Amino acid sequence: MLQRPRRNRRTETIRNLVEETHLSTAHLIYPLFLVDGYNIKDEVLSLPGNYRFSKDQVLIEIKNCIELGIRNFILFPAVKEHLKDPIATYSYSGDNFYLDIAKRIKELFPEVCLISDVAMDPYNSDGHDGLVRNGKIVNDETLPILAKMAVAQAKAGFDYIGPSDMMDGRVKTIRMALDEAGFYETGILSYTAKYASAFYGPFRDALDSAPKSGDKKTYQMNPANKREALIEAQLDESEGADMLMVKPALHYLDVIQSIKQTTNLPVACYHVSGECAMLIAACRNGWLDYKKAMPETLLSMRRAGADVIITYFAKDFAQIFAR
Ligand code: PBG
Repeated sequence: MLQRPRRNRRTETIRNLVEETHLSTAHLIYPLFLVDGYNIKDEVLSLPGNYRFSKDQVLIEIKNCIELGIRNFILFPAVKEHLKDPIATYSYSGDNFYLDIAKRIKELFPEVCLISDVAMDPYNSDGHDGLVRNGKIVNDETLPILAKMAVAQAKAGFDYIGPSDMMDGRVKTIRMALDEAGFYETGILSYTAKYASAFYGPFRDALDSAPKSGDKKTYQMNPANKREALIEAQLDESEGADMLMVKPALHYLDVIQSIKQTTNLPVACYHVSGECAMLIAACRNGWLDYKKAMPETLLSMRRAGADVIITYFAKDFAQIFAR
């Protein structure tokens, strides 16, 4: 035998020497769910180990995460039902608790990178990401609402705006609105290829944001399609996105790889709630070893080409691998 690949696997030192893909806490974004109120740390039943935090509690959580080396956070609001309406007014109102918490986080911890979520669903009495008219999710009338939401978030101090709604033309509308309001330094992390996936269940439980009727298939993508993701990538890039995201991640590694090959922008992926929940469930049953299966899962996304990973495992990863 002239070729013996096992030579390069012989010792740990050699294996480290030829390791192709690296994963560190610096690549991870930790999602946090927020609620209005005081002294609330309420576990999400379908996503064990994750909580809805009130302002005082999330400040403690972020401080702990910073000590573990986590610097990036994406925030989502769980909004009380009586504040929801068909035009998502509360999303940009002056007394919005989500914006208030973001502002406080940036005051206390200016070194962190904060990412927002732009979509109507947490604020919409219809539970859809866009405006509903006669049972249809209308595109162009949704855009000014998203723009107002984005400007309010930029004002609160978010570093990146995260449009997750999949309306056509939203990146351009948001970019123009941000620039017009003077927020030319605020970035856009676009949910470029977001699929109509069955793996968002625990997230919708956390925010109580499931659609009141119908599904999201007229705006989120068909899981069968990959070329369509490349059209979305091209559009988002030309409309001014700073990073492109694929969501979900684990079931769409091929899409991550394809987008990575067509763009020079950083590529992010969202390891979504259902993908994390299924691993947690198997590990809690003793069927898989969490400390080994979890990092292997995250590594697969890096190997596929993701520069950045949004994952509910960020804190556990940092805890296990903090040196
Ligand atoms: C809202 C939004 C969703 C997620 C992130 N932003 C849910 C949805 O589109 O229904 C899902 C994230 C997760 O499952 O972890 N537009």
